[in-house]
Amino acid sequence: MMQEALSHAVVTGAASGVGAAVVRRLLDDGYCVHAFDIDDGRLRALKEQMGSGRLMTMVGDVCSPASVAGLRQMLQDDEARLDVLVCCAGVLRVAPLAETSEQDWDSLFSVNVKGAFLMMQALTPLMIREAGLPRACVVVLTSAAAVRPKTGGGAYAATKAALTQIVKVWAVELAPHGVNVNAVAPGTVNTPMAAGLASAGGGFALSGKAPIGRMAEAVDIADAISLLYDRRAHFVTGAVLAVDGGLTAAFVPPSPPVPSIVSIRKS
Ligand SMILES: NC(=O)c1ccc[n+]([C@@H]2O[C@H](COP(=O)([O-])OP(=O)(O)OC[C@H]3O[C@@H](n4cnc5c(N)ncnc54)[C@H](O)[C@@H]3O)[C@@H](O)[C@H]2O)c1
Repeated sequence: MMQEALSHAVVTGAASGVGAAVVRRLLDDGYCVHAFDIDDGRLRALKEQMGSGRLMTMVGDVCSPASVAGLRQMLQDDEARLDVLVCCAGVLRVAPLAETSEQDWDSLFSVNVKGAFLMMQALTPLMIREAGLPRACVVVLTSAAAVRPKTGGGAYAATKAALTQIVKVWAVELAPHGVNVNAVAPGTVNTPMAAGLASAGGGFALSGKAPIGRMAEAVDIADAISLLYDRRAHFVTGAVLAVDGGLTAAFVPPSPPVPSIVSIRKS
Protein backbone atom coordinates (compact mmCIF):
# COMPACT_ATOMS: atom_id res chain seq x y z
CA MET A 1 0.00 0.00 0.00
CA MET A 2 1.31 3.50 -0.86
CA GLN A 3 2.16 5.51 2.28
CA GLU A 4 0.52 8.96 2.27
CA ALA A 5 3.16 11.76 2.49
CA LEU A 6 3.42 13.32 5.94
CA SER A 7 1.85 16.75 6.33
CA HIS A 8 4.30 19.45 7.36
CA ALA A 9 3.63 22.60 9.35
CA VAL A 10 5.74 25.65 10.19
CA VAL A 11 5.13 27.65 13.36
CA THR A 12 6.96 30.94 13.95
CA GLY A 13 7.34 32.29 17.48
CA ALA A 14 7.09 28.62 18.42
CA ALA A 15 9.19 28.65 21.56
CA SER A 16 6.71 30.35 23.86
CA GLY A 17 3.08 31.02 24.67
CA VAL A 18 0.60 30.57 21.81
CA GLY A 19 3.26 29.27 19.39
CA ALA A 20 4.30 26.46 21.77
CA ALA A 21 0.65 25.46 22.29
CA VAL A 22 0.14 25.37 18.50
CA VAL A 23 3.21 23.12 18.15
CA ARG A 24 1.69 20.71 20.70
CA ARG A 25 -1.69 20.71 18.90
CA LEU A 26 -0.11 20.08 15.48
CA LEU A 27 2.03 17.22 16.85
CA ASP A 28 -1.07 15.70 18.45
CA ASP A 29 -2.81 16.02 15.07
CA GLY A 30 -0.02 14.02 13.40
CA TYR A 31 1.95 16.78 11.63
CA CYS A 32 5.71 17.07 11.17
CA VAL A 33 6.32 20.44 12.80
CA HIS A 34 9.09 22.93 12.02
CA ALA A 35 9.36 25.27 14.99
CA PHE A 36 11.06 28.61 14.20
CA ASP A 37 12.02 31.15 16.86
CA ILE A 38 14.73 33.65 17.69
CA ASP A 39 15.12 32.25 21.22
CA ASP A 40 17.56 29.33 21.07
CA GLY A 41 17.27 28.39 24.78
CA ARG A 42 13.48 28.21 24.74
CA LEU A 43 13.49 26.25 21.48
CA ARG A 44 15.78 23.62 23.04
CA ALA A 45 13.46 23.44 26.06
CA LEU A 46 10.48 23.02 23.72
CA LYS A 47 12.20 20.15 21.89
CA GLU A 48 12.90 18.40 25.20
CA GLN A 49 9.42 19.03 26.55
CA MET A 50 7.59 17.79 23.43
CA GLY A 51 9.85 14.72 23.05
CA SER A 52 8.70 14.05 19.49
CA GLY A 53 10.74 12.86 16.52
CA ARG A 54 8.31 14.82 14.33
CA LEU A 55 9.47 18.15 15.79
CA MET A 56 12.30 20.03 14.03
CA THR A 57 13.57 23.32 15.45
CA MET A 58 15.32 26.21 13.75
CA VAL A 59 16.70 29.33 15.37
CA GLY A 60 16.04 32.37 13.24
CA ASP A 61 14.69 35.88 13.02
CA VAL A 62 11.44 36.44 11.10
CA CYS A 63 12.68 39.92 10.13
CA SER A 64 15.79 38.55 8.45
CA PRO A 65 15.38 37.57 4.79
CA ALA A 66 18.45 35.29 5.16
CA SER A 67 16.89 33.40 8.11
CA VAL A 68 13.59 33.03 6.30
CA ALA A 69 15.35 31.84 3.13
CA GLY A 70 17.24 29.30 5.27
CA LEU A 71 13.96 27.86 6.53
CA ARG A 72 12.57 27.66 3.01
CA GLN A 73 15.72 25.90 1.80
CA MET A 74 15.50 23.39 4.63
CA LEU A 75 11.89 22.55 3.68
CA GLN A 76 12.85 22.25 0.02
CA ASP A 77 15.81 19.99 0.84
CA ASP A 78 13.43 17.75 2.81
CA GLU A 79 10.97 17.85 -0.10
CA ALA A 80 8.38 18.67 2.54
CA ARG A 81 4.80 19.21 1.43
CA LEU A 82 3.92 22.31 3.44
CA ASP A 83 0.27 22.27 4.51
CA VAL A 84 0.13 24.67 7.43
CA LEU A 85 1.93 27.90 8.33
CA VAL A 86 1.11 29.59 11.63
CA CYS A 87 2.70 33.02 12.17
CA CYS A 88 2.82 33.61 15.92
CA ALA A 89 6.11 35.55 16.27
CA GLY A 90 5.31 38.91 17.74
CA VAL A 91 6.46 41.56 20.18
CA LEU A 92 4.64 44.14 22.26
CA ARG A 93 5.99 47.44 23.57
CA VAL A 94 3.87 49.59 25.83
CA ALA A 95 3.92 53.39 25.82
CA PRO A 96 1.55 56.24 25.04
CA LEU A 97 1.96 57.27 21.39
CA ALA A 98 3.49 60.58 22.46
CA GLU A 99 6.28 58.67 24.19
CA THR A 100 6.76 55.83 21.69
CA SER A 101 10.37 55.86 20.51
CA GLU A 102 11.26 55.50 16.85
CA GLN A 103 13.23 52.39 17.81
CA ASP A 104 10.17 50.74 19.41
CA TRP A 105 7.96 51.75 16.47
CA ASP A 106 10.43 50.23 14.01
CA SER A 107 10.92 47.01 15.97
CA LEU A 108 7.14 46.49 16.36
CA PHE A 109 6.54 46.93 12.63
CA SER A 110 9.60 44.90 11.77
CA VAL A 111 8.68 41.78 13.79
CA ASN A 112 4.88 41.92 13.70
CA VAL A 113 4.29 43.08 10.12
CA LYS A 114 7.43 42.62 8.03
CA GLY A 115 8.24 39.32 9.77
CA ALA A 116 4.87 37.76 8.88
CA PHE A 117 5.03 39.26 5.38
CA LEU A 118 8.50 37.80 4.68
CA MET A 119 7.48 34.41 6.04
CA MET A 120 4.32 34.25 3.89
CA GLN A 121 6.15 35.50 0.81
CA ALA A 122 8.86 32.85 1.19
CA LEU A 123 6.75 29.86 2.23
CA THR A 124 3.38 30.16 0.49
CA PRO A 125 4.93 29.17 -2.89
CA LEU A 126 5.64 25.78 -1.22
CA MET A 127 1.94 25.50 -0.30
CA ILE A 128 0.40 26.06 -3.73
CA ARG A 129 -1.50 23.04 -5.07
CA GLU A 130 -3.69 21.81 -7.86
CA ALA A 131 -7.45 22.29 -7.79
CA GLY A 132 -9.23 19.35 -6.15
CA LEU A 133 -6.46 18.63 -3.61
CA PRO A 134 -7.00 19.57 0.08
CA ARG A 135 -6.25 23.26 0.56
CA ALA A 136 -3.20 24.48 2.48
CA CYS A 137 -3.71 26.90 5.36
CA VAL A 138 -1.95 30.00 6.68
CA VAL A 139 -3.01 31.41 10.06
CA VAL A 140 -1.66 34.74 11.28
CA LEU A 141 -1.95 35.95 14.87
CA THR A 142 -3.44 39.43 14.95
CA SER A 143 -5.19 40.78 18.05
CA ALA A 144 -8.39 42.23 19.44
CA ALA A 145 -6.27 45.41 19.59
CA ALA A 146 -6.59 45.71 15.79
CA VAL A 147 -10.24 46.71 16.24
CA ARG A 148 -10.23 47.79 19.91
CA PRO A 149 -6.95 49.69 20.46
CA LYS A 150 -6.13 50.84 23.97
CA THR A 151 -4.11 53.72 25.36
CA GLY A 152 -0.52 52.60 25.80
CA GLY A 153 -0.83 50.06 23.00
CA GLY A 154 -1.23 52.35 19.98
CA ALA A 155 1.81 51.26 17.98
CA TYR A 156 1.14 47.57 18.66
CA ALA A 157 -2.52 47.99 17.61
CA ALA A 158 -1.37 49.67 14.38
CA THR A 159 0.82 46.67 13.54
CA LYS A 160 -2.06 44.25 14.09
CA ALA A 161 -4.45 46.37 12.00
CA ALA A 162 -1.87 46.40 9.17
CA LEU A 163 -1.48 42.64 9.45
CA THR A 164 -5.26 42.16 9.21
CA GLN A 165 -5.33 43.91 5.83
CA ILE A 166 -2.33 41.92 4.58
CA VAL A 167 -4.12 38.68 5.53
CA LYS A 168 -7.23 39.69 3.56
CA VAL A 169 -5.35 40.67 0.41
CA TRP A 170 -3.18 37.56 0.54
CA ALA A 171 -6.29 35.41 0.99
CA VAL A 172 -7.71 36.77 -2.26
CA GLU A 173 -4.41 36.51 -4.15
CA LEU A 174 -3.90 32.89 -3.08
CA ALA A 175 -7.54 31.78 -3.30
CA PRO A 176 -7.19 30.31 -6.81
CA HIS A 177 -3.97 28.51 -5.83
CA GLY A 178 -5.28 26.18 -3.13
CA VAL A 179 -4.11 28.20 -0.11
CA ASN A 180 -6.40 29.68 2.56
CA VAL A 181 -5.18 32.64 4.63
CA ASN A 182 -6.94 33.62 7.84
CA ALA A 183 -6.28 35.64 10.98
CA VAL A 184 -6.94 34.69 14.57
CA ALA A 185 -7.49 37.64 16.89
CA PRO A 186 -7.16 36.87 20.61
CA GLY A 187 -7.93 39.19 23.51
CA THR A 188 -5.55 38.82 26.45
CA VAL A 189 -3.88 35.39 26.61
CA ASN A 190 -2.05 34.07 29.65
CA THR A 191 1.47 33.89 28.14
CA PRO A 192 4.88 35.42 28.92
CA MET A 193 3.91 38.37 26.68
CA ALA A 194 0.87 39.19 28.81
CA ALA A 195 2.74 38.49 32.06
CA GLY A 196 5.31 41.13 31.09
CA LEU A 197 2.50 43.62 30.61
CA ALA A 198 0.85 43.28 33.96
CA SER A 199 3.60 45.44 35.47
CA ALA A 200 4.52 47.45 32.35
CA GLY A 201 2.69 50.70 33.17
CA GLY A 202 2.78 53.17 30.27
CA GLY A 203 -0.96 53.78 30.56
CA PHE A 204 -1.78 50.25 29.40
CA ALA A 205 -4.41 48.17 31.19
CA LEU A 206 -4.76 44.44 30.53
CA SER A 207 -8.22 43.35 29.43
CA GLY A 208 -8.36 40.65 32.10
CA LYS A 209 -11.46 38.48 32.20
CA ALA A 210 -13.47 38.18 29.00
CA PRO A 211 -17.30 37.97 29.11
CA ILE A 212 -16.85 34.18 29.06
CA GLY A 213 -15.58 34.54 32.64
CA ARG A 214 -11.82 34.07 32.46
CA MET A 215 -8.67 35.05 30.61
CA ALA A 216 -7.65 32.86 27.62
CA GLU A 217 -4.95 30.22 27.96
CA ALA A 218 -2.60 29.54 25.01
CA VAL A 219 -4.33 26.21 24.38
CA ASP A 220 -7.66 28.03 23.77
CA ILE A 221 -6.03 29.86 20.86
CA ALA A 222 -4.30 26.71 19.55
CA ASP A 223 -7.65 24.87 19.57
CA ALA A 224 -9.27 27.64 17.49
CA ILE A 225 -6.34 27.59 15.04
CA SER A 226 -6.82 23.84 14.60
CA LEU A 227 -10.39 24.54 13.41
CA LEU A 228 -8.92 26.61 10.57
CA TYR A 229 -6.45 23.98 9.36
CA ASP A 230 -9.11 21.26 9.60
CA ARG A 231 -10.03 20.17 6.07
CA ARG A 232 -13.68 20.93 6.80
CA ALA A 233 -12.75 24.64 6.90
CA HIS A 234 -11.76 24.49 3.21
CA PHE A 235 -14.16 27.33 2.27
CA VAL A 236 -12.92 29.69 5.01
CA THR A 237 -10.40 32.24 3.76
CA GLY A 238 -9.83 35.94 4.35
CA ALA A 239 -11.56 35.64 7.73
CA VAL A 240 -10.61 37.19 11.05
CA LEU A 241 -11.65 34.82 13.80
CA ALA A 242 -12.06 36.58 17.16
CA VAL A 243 -10.90 34.15 19.85
CA ASP A 244 -11.48 36.49 22.76
CA GLY A 245 -14.27 35.02 24.89
CA GLY A 246 -16.65 37.75 23.70
CA LEU A 247 -14.35 40.68 24.52
CA THR A 248 -14.77 42.57 21.25
CA ALA A 249 -18.51 41.82 21.17
CA ALA A 250 -18.97 43.65 24.47
CA PHE A 251 -19.13 47.36 25.28
CA VAL A 252 -15.67 48.64 26.23
CA PRO A 253 -15.42 51.65 28.55
CA PRO A 254 -12.98 54.39 27.44
CA SER A 255 -9.31 53.85 28.37
CA PRO A 256 -7.94 55.93 31.27
CA PRO A 257 -6.34 59.29 30.36
CA VAL A 258 -2.62 59.29 29.57
CA PRO A 259 -0.61 61.49 31.99
CA SER A 260 1.96 62.50 29.36
CA ILE A 261 -0.71 64.30 27.28
CA VAL A 262 -1.49 66.50 30.28
CA SER A 263 2.19 67.37 30.70
CA ILE A 264 2.56 68.19 26.97
CA ARG A 265 -0.38 70.59 27.21
CA LYS A 266 1.23 72.39 30.16
CA SER A 267 4.68 72.73 28.58
N1 LIG B 1 -0.59 37.16 24.81
C1 LIG B 1 -1.57 37.93 24.44
O1 LIG B 1 -2.32 38.49 25.27
C2 LIG B 1 -1.85 38.16 22.97
C3 LIG B 1 -3.06 38.77 22.62
C4 LIG B 1 -3.34 38.99 21.26
C5 LIG B 1 -2.43 38.61 20.29
N2 LIG B 1 -1.26 38.02 20.68
C6 LIG B 1 -0.33 37.66 19.60
O2 LIG B 1 -0.10 36.26 19.65
C7 LIG B 1 1.23 35.99 19.18
C8 LIG B 1 1.94 35.11 20.20
O3 LIG B 1 2.03 35.85 21.41
P1 LIG B 1 2.41 35.17 22.81
O4 LIG B 1 1.52 35.75 23.81
O5 LIG B 1 2.52 33.72 22.64
O6 LIG B 1 3.85 35.85 23.01
P2 LIG B 1 5.20 35.25 23.62
O7 LIG B 1 6.04 36.44 23.95
O8 LIG B 1 4.92 34.26 24.70
O9 LIG B 1 5.82 34.47 22.36
C9 LIG B 1 6.27 35.17 21.22
C10 LIG B 1 7.40 34.36 20.60
O10 LIG B 1 7.84 35.07 19.43
C11 LIG B 1 9.26 34.97 19.38
N3 LIG B 1 9.83 36.04 18.59
C12 LIG B 1 9.85 37.38 18.89
N4 LIG B 1 10.52 38.06 17.95
C13 LIG B 1 10.91 37.14 17.02
C14 LIG B 1 11.64 37.24 15.81
N5 LIG B 1 12.12 38.43 15.38
N6 LIG B 1 11.86 36.12 15.09
C15 LIG B 1 11.41 34.91 15.54
N7 LIG B 1 10.73 34.77 16.68
C16 LIG B 1 10.48 35.87 17.42
C17 LIG B 1 9.69 35.05 20.85
O11 LIG B 1 11.02 34.56 21.05
C18 LIG B 1 8.63 34.21 21.52
O12 LIG B 1 9.02 32.85 21.60
C19 LIG B 1 1.89 37.34 18.95
O13 LIG B 1 1.82 37.67 17.57
C20 LIG B 1 1.04 38.29 19.77
O14 LIG B 1 1.08 39.61 19.26
C21 LIG B 1 -0.95 37.77 21.98
